[in-house]
Amino acid sequence: MRSLRRSAESLHRPDRPDVFVLDGREWDLLDGVFAPPFSASTGVAMELLAAEQHAAAGAGKQGTRGKQGRQGRRRSLLEIGCGTGVIAVTAALTGHDRVVASDISPQAARNTALNAARHGVSDRVRTLCGDLFAPLAELGGDERFDTVYWHSNFVKAPEHYVYGSMHERAYVDAGYAAHRRYLAGAHDHLAPGGRVLLHFSDRGDVLGLRRTARECGRGLRVLRSRRVREGQETVEHMLLEVTAARAALRPAA
Ligand SMILES: C[S@@+](CC[C@H](N)C(=O)[O-])C[C@H]1O[C@@H](n2cnc3c(N)ncnc32)[C@H](O)[C@@H]1O
Repeated sequence: MRSLRRSAESLHRPDRPDVFVLDGREWDLLDGVFAPPFSASTGVAMELLAAEQHAAAGAGKQGTRGKQGRQGRRRSLLEIGCGTGVIAVTAALTGHDRVVASDISPQAARNTALNAARHGVSDRVRTLCGDLFAPLAELGGDERFDTVYWHSNFVKAPEHYVYGSMHERAYVDAGYAAHRRYLAGAHDHLAPGGRVLLHFSDRGDVLGLRRTARECGRGLRVLRSRRVREGQETVEHMLLEVTAARAALRPAA
C-alpha cells in the first residue's frame, strides 16, 4: 500500500528535520511523529480549518444570539490525533481559550506539549494520550467543546491489518474502525451549537466513509475542499462536517 510506503519513508528520510517551519512559525518534530514537512495535508488542513472558523466567527458576529450567536465568546477545541501539535497550538494562538489535544501515540502527545511550551500556550493546551475519546476520562469525562476535530489517518487498510509501527497509525486505519467510532462518538463531546469536523482526502475511501457514517446515523457535508499537487498525484482534501442527522455528501452551498 502506497500510504505505508510513505509512512516508512517519512520516518527514515535523512533530511527529516528536528525543527520545521509551517504557517510562519517554527515547530519541534520528534522521532516517530507524523511529519508535516513531508506531506501537504497538515498545511491544507490548517488552511481549511482556519477559513471555516473565520467564516463561522463572521456569521456569529452578524447573527443574533441563536445557535451561531457566539459573539464575544472564546472558543474551545478538542483535537484528536494532534501529531506535532501545530493545529492545536495554532488554535490556542488564534482565539481558542481551551484546547485539548490528544493522540494515540505517546510521542505525539509529548511533541504537542513541547510545541505548546515553545509557543507559550501550555496554560491553555492540555495534551492527552490514548485512543480517540478514552483519555478524556482523565478530565472527568464531562468536558464539552465547541469544535471536535480530527485530521485523520484517512487511508483505509484491510480490516485485520496488523500495524508495523505506531507511526503507521498516522497514515492508515484498519477497516475504518477508528473512523466508525469517531463518527459515532464525537457528538457526545460537543457543547450546544458545536460542530464535529473531519479532515479527509480522496486518498481515502470517500464512499466507504459515507456508508460508515450512514450506519452510525450520521451525515457528512463538505464544508471546504482544495485540490493539491502531491508528487505525481493531485489529491483533493476536504473539511467535512459530521452531522447528527443523515445528509448527502455534497457541497455546503
Ligand atoms: C494524519 S495525522 C495528523 C497529525 C496532525 N494533526 C497534523 O495535522 O499534522 C493523524 C494522527 O491521528 C493519530 N491517530 C490515529 N489513530 C488514532 C486514534 N485511534 N486515537 C487518537 N489518535 C489517533 C495518529 O497518531 C496521527 O498523529
